[in-house]
Amino acid sequence: EKGEYKHFLHKEIHEQPKAIADTILGRLKFKGQNIWLEGIDTQKLKAINRVLIVACGTSFHSAMIGKQIIEEKAKIPVEIELASEFRYRNCILDKNTLVIGISQSGETADTIGALNSAKSRGMALLAICNAIDSAIARLCEDDAGIFYTRAGPEISVASTKAFTTQVAALHLLALTFAYLNKSLHKGEILKEIEKLKTIPKVIESVLACEKDIAKVAQNVASADHMLFLGRGILYPIALEGALKMKEISYLHAEGYAAGEMKHGPIALIDENMPVVVLAAKGQGYEKIVSNLEEVKARNGRVLVLCDKNDKKLIKRSDMNFLLPFCDSTILPFVAAIPLQLFAYHVALIRGTDVDQPRNLAKSVTVE
Ligand code: F6R
Repeated sequence: EKGEYKHFLHKEIHEQPKAIADTILGRLKFKGQNIWLEGIDTQKLKAINRVLIVACGTSFHSAMIGKQIIEEKAKIPVEIELASEFRYRNCILDKNTLVIGISQSGETADTIGALNSAKSRGMALLAICNAIDSAIARLCEDDAGIFYTRAGPEISVASTKAFTTQVAALHLLALTFAYLNKSLHKGEILKEIEKLKTIPKVIESVLACEKDIAKVAQNVASADHMLFLGRGILYPIALEGALKMKEISYLHAEGYAAGEMKHGPIALIDENMPVVVLAAKGQGYEKIVSNLEEVKARNGRVLVLCDKNDKKLIKRSDMNFLLPFCDSTILPFVAAIPLQLFAYHVALIRGTDVDQPRNLAKSVTVE
């Protein structure tokens, strides 16, 4: 089943171009004046003026990205809550709020609990889910509906292709909202979809640089701690990069909004703690360059993820992950890939059980 790959994780990382294409192609259409999104009752979305997303783990990181996309495209306020917190909190909800649950497995106990609690309060529910006919899918099918990510089975415990396809799903949902509330017109939406369609190709080109990423992994795999910093849409990507690193390689990694570094974590920086800085124009670029300088001034080793033409940053970095040019629509997809491969190669060097990390289960069906 693993074919040419030694691990499911590695195979699933490489399946992302297809998984994303399958999640996007033919899933959103215009039928006359109406917009159609597969599996979704768009009539139920018309009156929505606020969104709340609940999820856990990696799916929560895609929710963080979804918040930024929906707010930008559709101008609808979006709140995000960890499912485990939401279910025990008396969150303020009103009848025009849509509650979205995001889950790869569709069986995560906390996310089921959060959606059930929203349902009992009469809220409209929508699921973004990978596992067909799972508990979460069934909870939402007679409601606003289910948008299935078409990642295919994800066997490795660490989530990779489910994550990027969730972000793709959130894009399509944001565009649907934007059409319904007239934030964007049809032509603008079709243009955005064309852009999304270019993602698989761009990801292919990043996957082709795996050897370079493996070399960087050689240089840092013996560290005990690592920090991932990002701003804007790269902040959730920093959190996700750190989560992948800790769960499969057992190397302690923390993700931080770069602006928060000076409020505490800067105390940790020395020559023994590599700092991964995620930088892109439009995502607080100038500020993150100065964060990088702060790290260097404290003898930190900096590993920069940036555009391959960004000579200034490349010169200032000790190691780097280089990306082809990406605008903000495709950036989160593309930026996630080197960090997944990075965690994989560090884990290989450290000799951990990549597909079945200790103490973890693929679907967390207990609280
Ligand atoms: C991380 C990971 C977990 C899951 C989380 C939610 O790689 O796999 O953090 O993302 O347990 O799972 P789902 O999406 O199935 O609800």
